[in-house]
Order: sequence, then structure tokens, then C-alpha cells
Amino acid sequence: MAQDKLTGTLVTVFTAVLSSFQFGYDIGVINAPEETIKSHYRHVLGVPLDDRKAINSYTINDTEALSTTPVYPTSPPGSEQDTMTPDGLITMFWSLSVSSFAVGGMIASFFGGWLGDKLGRIKSLLVANIFSLVGALLMGCSKLGPSHILIIAGRGISGLYCGLISGLVPMYIGEIAPTTLRGALGALHQLALVTGILISQIVGLDSVLGNNHHWHILLGLSAVPALLQILLLFFCPESPRYLYITLEEEVKAKKSLKRLRGSDDISKDINEMRKEKEEASSEQKVSIIQLFTNSSCRQPIIVALMLHMAQQFSGINGIFYYSTNIFQKAGIRKPVYATIGVGAINTVFTALSVFLVEKAGRRSLFLIGMVGMFFCNIFMSLGLVLLDKFTWMNYVSMVAIFLNVSFFEIGPGPIPWFIGAELFSQGPRPAALALAAFSNWVCNFLVALCFPYLAEFCGPYVFFLFSGVVLGFTLFTFFKVPETKGKSFEEIAAEFRKKGRSAERPKPAVEMEFLGATETA
Ligand code: GLC
Repeated sequence: MAQDKLTGTLVTVFTAVLSSFQFGYDIGVINAPEETIKSHYRHVLGVPLDDRKAINSYTINDTEALSTTPVYPTSPPGSEQDTMTPDGLITMFWSLSVSSFAVGGMIASFFGGWLGDKLGRIKSLLVANIFSLVGALLMGCSKLGPSHILIIAGRGISGLYCGLISGLVPMYIGEIAPTTLRGALGALHQLALVTGILISQIVGLDSVLGNNHHWHILLGLSAVPALLQILLLFFCPESPRYLYITLEEEVKAKKSLKRLRGSDDISKDINEMRKEKEEASSEQKVSIIQLFTNSSCRQPIIVALMLHMAQQFSGINGIFYYSTNIFQKAGIRKPVYATIGVGAINTVFTALSVFLVEKAGRRSLFLIGMVGMFFCNIFMSLGLVLLDKFTWMNYVSMVAIFLNVSFFEIGPGPIPWFIGAELFSQGPRPAALALAAFSNWVCNFLVALCFPYLAEFCGPYVFFLFSGVVLGFTLFTFFKVPETKGKSFEEIAAEFRKKGRSAERPKPAVEMEFLGATETA
């Protein structure tokens, strides 16, 4: 690791994660200015301000305005605000403004791998940025026209961008990183994402851009990292794995590797890629369907999808949603600042994970994070259930929220994003990462959609439910997820093949029971 001269690689990874930064910015930016933008919608659509809302300044929608996650519907269907009163119309346009982003993301995530193979990783990122710029332009100009339409379209188009890059960026980083640093560099995707969320929370404050005068600038600001990335991408080398294995351009691949490593000694990388290429030539090209029918891909794709599901069904985004409520109950006058505190903790612990992931390994960090979240979810629910009896229980819930976010970012936050690139060799990688990103978007959307109903149905017990789900995924990880730290793609593929073969052989009962643990240790 020490002998790797990393300047070229680091600059390239920095350029790539400007996409992840935009992704995070787009996730977070829509929350703080909710009321400001809604009142602009009222103005544009000629809808008068609802008196009831003006008097009661803490309706559920106001609470959500302060949360950090974008895609939650503002109220369950059938509720008072769901009927098509003039105010219901505003709610509907607002919900569409928020959720069009997720719809765009879900659709485009499916095409990230295909685009990456068609044009190469760099050109694909350049093309994807067109969506980012168009989206930012529409939102930045939304004050000048029918703002509701422009924002819904702009968010949808930005979502297309984020969907594409959620597969492309982890794939590109996974392909250019030296083996010893693949986890740390891969975790930079999540670090940039959470930094984007945090920055959007800060610039979204009323005193900065989240006010009547500047909200459109706030929404259009993602054009800045997009322009910077476009500029820098012209200096970034194409993925040597894509050049060597997919295009069979050995000379170009070597040139690219030398630029990345800042050294002429690229024999280690070349040897690794050569082995991978030999493997790839004996493999058939793999489509999304074949990921499940091909025996060497089945196990890795199940692991990749389960880790994304674990990340989303851990309820992290539900916690973001609920935190503002709890901070409010704890008597904090400006819960928006506590929410920014959550964003800051989120960033600090992701940074910690970048340093830990090459030492502790992916499997251990993921497990530690999940076990921590299991207990935090229990304490969050306990705090809420006992709130009426002991007021100090607020603080139990608060501490549990902060710890929960910390445990999430230690492992379950960053790892699913980059482990997919580690689990597959060059042939199936694009299809696998597209599917993994798609599953993340779908699960995120499902949690967003269902959380208000679950919270209404289960009340303060809702986080007990998440702790059960987390426990299930923890057991799966313990038995089925291999350690990938420091292993070449070839070695990881071999490990799965070994697992597949040994699964076919009949085994003594005791050995079967510990199959995952013994083979993956
Ligand atoms: C991960 C999740 C995303 C979540 C974020 C919070 O990137 O994919 O849904 O909002 O972490 O830090």
C-alpha cells in the first residue's frame, strides 16, 4: 500500500465522487425550503394560504420540512390533506416535486451499467452530467415560470443523473483502485454523498439560501459541482480494466494505469487484470437475468442485493424522518440545527469508516454496524414508549438516534455501495451494479412510502420492527457474506465458486451449520 503513488488515483477518485456529492446534495436540498417553495406554488397557482396552517405552525408537514430525507409522502392517502382542496393541490405538487427525483433515479439506475459498457466510464459520466445540468437549469430558473412544473421536471431529470451515477461511480472507483485501498476509496462515494447532504442542509438554512429570495439558487446550485466535474473529467484516465478486459486495448490500459499510479511499475495491477481477463474469456457475457441463472453469479448477486436491502430496511431514512419530531419533543426550539447535527455525525462517522474499512474489513464493519443498529432501534422505541412516564426518555431516544446514525455509517452506509464492484469480475460487473443500484432506489422508495403508515400503525413501537429486520439481515451477513478485504477480484470469484461447489456436495450436519462462518473467516 505504501509503495502505491496515489496522487493520480486520488485526483481521479475525487473527480468521480463529485457525482456522489451532487447525489447527496439533491437528496438533502429539498427539505429545508419546503414551506418557502410551497408558498411560492400557492402564489403561482393562485391558492390562498390555509388559515389553519398559518395559526398552527407545527403541522406534520412543517416537521417534515426539517427532515433530511426527500421522498416521504407528506401525509398518508385518505388523510385530511389528501383530499383535493386547494391546499391538497399544493401538497400534491409538493409530493411530486419530492418524489420525481426517486422515480428518475429508479429508472436510470437500470441503465448505468449498460451506458458504462457502451461509452466507457469517463464518457458515460460526461453524458450523465448533461442530465445534471439540465435539471439544475430547470430548477434554477423555476422562479421565472410555472415553478411547480419546472421543479418536478428538474428533480426528475436530476434523479436520472443520480440513478446513472449510483452504478457508474462505484464501478469506476472499484476498477481503478489498487486492491489494498479499494474499500477506503470505495467508501469515499458515501463520504461525498453525506457531505452533499450536510452542505445542502447548511446552505438550505433560512439565513443562507433557503429563503424567499434565494431558494431557486439553492436548487440550481448542483450545477457548480457538475461543471467542475465536467472540467476535471477531461483529465481523468479511462478505467484500465475497461480498456484491457472489455475493449482488449492493452497499450491504452497500461498508459492509463501509469497515469493513475504515477509510476512505470504497474506489473502487479497488470498481472491481476491478466488473470481476470483469462477468467472473463472463459465466461459468457452476463445479462441481468443471467445473474440469477448463472451459477457463479447467483451467490454474489444475492449477497449484493441483500446488503443494499439491509442498508435501506435498517430504517435509516425513517430515522432521519423521525429525528426532527423527537428533537422537537425534547424541547429543542430549532430542531433544524439538531438535524444538521445528525448530518454532521453522519459525515464524521463515514470518514471514520474510510480509515477503518481496510483494517477491520467489510464483513466485520458491516456486522458491527448492524448489531449496533439493532440495539439502537430497541432503545429508540423504548425511549418513545416510556416518554409519557419519564421525560428524560427523550434524551435516551436522542442519544439512540445519534448512535444509530454513527453505527450506520461505520458499515451499512458505505459498504453496500462499493462491495458490489468487488464481488464481480469484469463481465458481469456492469449488470450486477446496475441491479444493485436499482434495488437500493426501490427499497429507499418503499421505506419512504411505507414509513408514515408504519409509524401510524405501530406508533412508538415502529423501531422494534426495524430492529427485527436488522437482526434478520445481521444473521444473513454472518452466515453468507465473505470478507473481500485485500483480495483480488479473481480470488473473490474463486471463493464464491468454492462456496458454490461445496454447497452442492452433501455435508455433515455440523459443518453445514457453520458453512458461512468457517468459509468466510
Ligand atoms: C446511504 C443510503 C441513503 C441514505 C444515506 C444516509 O447512502 O443509500 O439512502 O440517505 O446513506 O447517509
